[in-house]
Amino acid sequence: MTLENKKIFVTNALPYANGPIHIGHMVGYIQADIWSRFQRMQGHDVVFICASDAHGTPIMLSAEDLGVEPVELAAEYTRQHENDFNDFHVSFDNYHTTHSEENEELVGEIYQRLKENDCIRTEVIEQAYDDQENMFLPDRYVRGTCPKCNAPDQYGDNCEKCGATYKPTDLIDPISAISGKAPSLKESEHYFMKLTKFENMLEDWIETIDIHSSVKSKLKEWFDVGLRDWDISRDAPYFGFLIPGEEDKYFYVWLDAPIGYFASLKNLSEKSDLQFEEYFKDGSDTHMVHFIGKDIIYFHALFWPAVLEGAGVKKPDAIYVNGFLTVNGEKMSKSRGTFIKARTYLDHLDPEYLRYYFAYKSSAGVDDFDLDTEDFQNRINADLIGKWINIASRSSKFIREHFENTLSADVDKDLMETFDSGANEIKAHYEKREFGQSMRKIMLLADNANQYLDQEKPWIMIKNEEKKDEVQKVCTNALNMFLKLTIMLKPVMPDVASNVESFMNLSDLNWSNIHDVINDHKINNYENLMYRIREEDIERIIKK
Ligand code: MSP
Ligand code: ZN
Repeated sequence: MTLENKKIFVTNALPYANGPIHIGHMVGYIQADIWSRFQRMQGHDVVFICASDAHGTPIMLSAEDLGVEPVELAAEYTRQHENDFNDFHVSFDNYHTTHSEENEELVGEIYQRLKENDCIRTEVIEQAYDDQENMFLPDRYVRGTCPKCNAPDQYGDNCEKCGATYKPTDLIDPISAISGKAPSLKESEHYFMKLTKFENMLEDWIETIDIHSSVKSKLKEWFDVGLRDWDISRDAPYFGFLIPGEEDKYFYVWLDAPIGYFASLKNLSEKSDLQFEEYFKDGSDTHMVHFIGKDIIYFHALFWPAVLEGAGVKKPDAIYVNGFLTVNGEKMSKSRGTFIKARTYLDHLDPEYLRYYFAYKSSAGVDDFDLDTEDFQNRINADLIGKWINIASRSSKFIREHFENTLSADVDKDLMETFDSGANEIKAHYEKREFGQSMRKIMLLADNANQYLDQEKPWIMIKNEEKKDEVQKVCTNALNMFLKLTIMLKPVMPDVASNVESFMNLSDLNWSNIHDVINDHKINNYENLMYRIREEDIERIIKK
């Protein structure tokens, strides 16, 4: 798949605006950001957007508990999330919310088109109902004893003990998680998207997009079971958009959430010269990429493309799925001290350490991966400080003390050759989102640069006046290698890279600059670019 001359539209799953961002969430946002920054450095036109996912029952109930309006709660979390992403150097071109005018309008338009194209039907269904709270209960809000294994206190849709799936009405002694009372059953008319109509289209379509083979296998399992029509309405009380023509029925949050991708893009088009229709129209030549976590594949690879097809809107070209993060081998949990908020991390450590570690652990597949805090500390100190930054601190010293911060005119072409060819390999890994492979290759090249300095020993040569020119050449070579490595790391470590640019008196370096030679050039005084992680930094985070 070539992206030459294509406009690239990148999204990351929209975080629910009813709780703080934790470092598990950050996996996907950091991967999407690295890929977007890498593509921008290739000279591509990239628009990278996000928004908060504001609707649904959980946020409505949290707001009620806090005695505020759901809109206010969503707005507060949206603000916090935006700060967290910003401070992790996630370079969204726009951050919006699904509870917006643009989204309501687009949802209305898409729904209208779906109706016209005979993709919507209604059906009366029976559902658990809380008579005290006067509301229908989503499956997750009914709890009771598992009908298969008798485990107590299980959710209404599946048993965490034995893995059985069932309907809330199958539970033994069910209660409402909201009032604690036994729910009754009540009928109501629901709207359905005719997903079954799209089964053949979807099966063909997943063969045409960029999606990992393991995700494809998962989708095939679902096709084998057969798709069912999708319930897209919820009865009041609900926080969401009213269905046109109804007074107490709303669109289910998962209908309006992905439309929020386009709504955020539309919002951006209102304040820039971006042409929204170019991205939205059926047959659009733009390249649309969704980064998501593995728990929401069904929504993005089945429901969403069916909605787009039914409404005559452009469908995604790639779906990139990340696995789940564990911390020190455990699921993130508050009681085990493995629930780390993005903000807690930021209060103690440099965001680019985590960006590097996540990159180092990432592959194109959907495997889960672990943040082992000891391994994290060792990896950062050994790779970033011990290998990469070390090249600059070792060599810049001589350039400053003996050559008035001026690089020599001579650069060893042969020495640079390894880095130039290495860069092509690294670029191919980045394109395929094999970030771990990119990082390992970059560190091998950093080893080469350090070995070169170890062999040449400028600290010994400098004692011999006749060898002085040689010292300048060696350190110029080393700083050129350092610069190439910095450009290769720039998608992952944009802030440190920018400090390196100032130190080396350069700016706005792109991927192609890897092949440039910097000679006869004045640089600035070296100032420490990064600090080692100490034991206590990690301890403070875990304690919190
Ligand atoms: N609101 C939906 C997405 C709607 S997209 C139209 C949602 N929100 S979420 O806040 O629960 O998750 C946001 C993203 O973080 C999702 O891609 C999700 O898969 C991902 N992750 C949540 N916990 C995670 C880990 N522990 N590890 C890695 N990714 C995780 O889903
Ligand atoms: Zn069970």
